Amino acid sequence: MNRETVDIDWSNLPFAYVKTDYNIRFYYKDGKWSDGELVSDEYITMHMAAPCLHYGQEAFEGLKAFETKDGRVVVFRPSENWKRLQKTSERIFLPPMPEEMFLEAIRKVVSANRRFVPPYGTGASLYIRPFLIGVGAKVGLGPASEYIFVIFVTPVGPYYKGGLTPVKAMVITGFDRAAPDGVGDCKVGGNYAAGLPGADYAKHHGYPVPLYLDPKEKRYVDEFGTSNFIGIKGKSYITPSSKSILPSITNMSLAQIAEDMGYKVERRPVDIEEVPSFDEIGAVGTAAVVTPICEINYNGKIMKFGKEDSAGPVISELYKRLTGIQYGEIEDKYNWLFEVK
Ligand SMILES: Cc1ncc(COP(=O)(O)O)c(C=O)c1O
Repeated sequence: MNRETVDIDWSNLPFAYVKTDYNIRFYYKDGKWSDGELVSDEYITMHMAAPCLHYGQEAFEGLKAFETKDGRVVVFRPSENWKRLQKTSERIFLPPMPEEMFLEAIRKVVSANRRFVPPYGTGASLYIRPFLIGVGAKVGLGPASEYIFVIFVTPVGPYYKGGLTPVKAMVITGFDRAAPDGVGDCKVGGNYAAGLPGADYAKHHGYPVPLYLDPKEKRYVDEFGTSNFIGIKGKSYITPSSKSILPSITNMSLAQIAEDMGYKVERRPVDIEEVPSFDEIGAVGTAAVVTPICEINYNGKIMKFGKEDSAGPVISELYKRLTGIQYGEIEDKYNWLFEVK
């Protein structure tokens, strides 16, 4: 490795903000995007009547950069985050942006913060957080007149210190995080604020992860608080299809890997009553790739899956293969890695 890095205890970094050298900013005014500007300022100045503050006209994304075994700095599938951001933008009237602008912004901000990309072998990564907000003074409900697009990065430690550690989840029936024709399939801040009481309720009952059912019938599995639901049953990889879940890029990638492993991928409604028949359950997303779920509490009914101290064989293999691609240990045959020079 011929890259200079900052002096950080990478393996013990939490998932928390660490100041880096630069963030990148673009301004949208009169129908046009400005050129990107790399700045060190961590603060944003805006009018107090900005629509993002009052009416939630805001979208964000989350993805990661890694150093590979052969010393390259790569970002995992940024074009998919761009696509998802465009979908969210269309839904809440944020301005679209060209794919090249998004990718170039990622390239520049990661490159400018190269010394914060954790070295290969530490298990750590560089978390990338793009967000787009409506600014400019506006009191009546309507789209903002101006927008700011920012990407900041922050190094985060390995999610698992040892092997994959299973966790317990609780089905939340008292609060919804998304409405059937609302914005559950978009990455907007309001969904996460709406998810706070459910997460808090689960935690207070000894369950680190909340699991939501479909908000209309409260019968079909939607997703965990910040990750998608997958179930392994025989030779099937099953994941819910629903309008109120965020389409996860990790899930999409794991489904492809599962297919390569000879599994049939089923995207369909998953009745909560079917869940006890699954062999393995996982919570999947950028933060941890996959977290094995060893128990689900559904209105006091306890469903158990596998062992409490280790992941099942299929989830372990899926994790190994996806992280192997991310760290350049396994051939990237689908071209998922975007190199940053
Ligand atoms: C609600 C929700 N579902 C699923 C995911 C997983 O999506 P991805 O795999 O794109 O990180 C996330 C995290 O980003 C999320 O916040």
